[in-house]
Amino acid sequence: MHFSKEEFGNDFSWGISTAAYQIEGAHDTDGKGMSIWDSFSQKRRKIANGEHANIACDFYHQYTSDLALIKKMNIPNYRFSIAWSRVLPNGIGTINYKGIAYYNRVIDFCLELGIEPWITLYHWDLPEALQKKGGWTNREIINWFSEFVNCCLNHFGDRVKHWMVLNEPMVFTGAGYFLGVHAPGKKGLSNFLAAAHHAAMCQAEGGRIIRSFESNFKIGTTFSYSDLAPLREDHERDAKAVIRVDALLNRLFLEPLLGLGYPIRDLKILQKIERFIKPGDEQKLAFQMDFIGLQNYTRELVSYSAFMPFLHAKIVKAKKRNVQHTLMNWEVYPPCIYNALKRLQKYPSIKEILVTENGAAFPDAVVNEEVDDEERLQYLQDHIAQVLKAKNEGVNVKGYFVWTLMDNFEWAEGYSPRFGLVHVDFDTQKRIIKSSGKWFGQFLDK
Ligand code: FCB
Repeated sequence: MHFSKEEFGNDFSWGISTAAYQIEGAHDTDGKGMSIWDSFSQKRRKIANGEHANIACDFYHQYTSDLALIKKMNIPNYRFSIAWSRVLPNGIGTINYKGIAYYNRVIDFCLELGIEPWITLYHWDLPEALQKKGGWTNREIINWFSEFVNCCLNHFGDRVKHWMVLNEPMVFTGAGYFLGVHAPGKKGLSNFLAAAHHAAMCQAEGGRIIRSFESNFKIGTTFSYSDLAPLREDHERDAKAVIRVDALLNRLFLEPLLGLGYPIRDLKILQKIERFIKPGDEQKLAFQMDFIGLQNYTRELVSYSAFMPFLHAKIVKAKKRNVQHTLMNWEVYPPCIYNALKRLQKYPSIKEILVTENGAAFPDAVVNEEVDDEERLQYLQDHIAQVLKAKNEGVNVKGYFVWTLMDNFEWAEGYSPRFGLVHVDFDTQKRIIKSSGKWFGQFLDK
């Protein structure tokens, strides 16, 4: 390791990220309503091994000891999400005060431990009641989401000062409304583009609502952002394919937020989104965030493909390329995060960048009550070093949050890809801090 914490400066936020559905469990406890992930995971063959997150890490009941682990690892910032259907079981209307009380306990205990809470408002678990009305494809969601944001601000805004509006809109609209591999399992271009436009509207609207509630809050939203390169160097058709994939995966939600509109010029099919755009929307898509949350894990190599509809491009996965990869089949390529940061820096209207997720799933083994996860430790050190390199070259990156606190429910992949700094035995709920977690704790203990 060739860096120290001091090199990042005193105003650099170190943290750890989680998401409600992946850890909380208690899926129907204390008046919680059903979410699209509760219902999606009940369907056959949607989740690896037929798994679900009814119990998950049981964080709902174990949050005091889990937050104590964050404290033990000296991690000063904790990013977590609010399960919409826990506070508003039907998505709108009646408030579930037991759900509110639970998040108040989590927030209060963070503060008691000296851990700063960072809230992600939406990390993919839409109330099922709203999906019945079309979910993200229904324009009404702008009002539903506003009600949810206001509800969270009214109940938590007296103590929580850091807010993120959406988690990775490209993933939840792409996987959930185009490919159908994530909840709610919808498919097709029209579902996707409707959901995408409404999510892009909500991301800006959410920012405006938070700002008008309290102008000093630190507001951001997060994006999945991959480093892309052509499979074959100096191959013109691959190079052009990269531009199309970049427009879709990296720019579709970011650029309208920055006031640049949708990247239609570089991906013609996106023109079809215009039928969902109402007069006045173009201005409303833009909002000046205090920070952009970068979520980056890997790089993707792209090749031209005549067979892929719309995109005419495909991503060639790491296994096929015979390169080092994680259990997600994501290439281990540390410069990816540096490249992503450098590219984001090129947008003059991005004030500040925080890495809000980075981490890796490797096969971990418990030996004598210990988990020596050397590969994850190396991954984290190598990626943090690349963040520092970008920072030293002038990129305004002001934070780094590891994905994730503990092994948890990895969406359609179920429980087998373990990403945690803390190992979880899902039969006993026993926790063991892995070597990577111990290292992070020592690194932060300065
Ligand atoms: C991101 C998600 C997060 C987690 C990681 C591995 O796309 O935001 O919930 O699943 O990937």
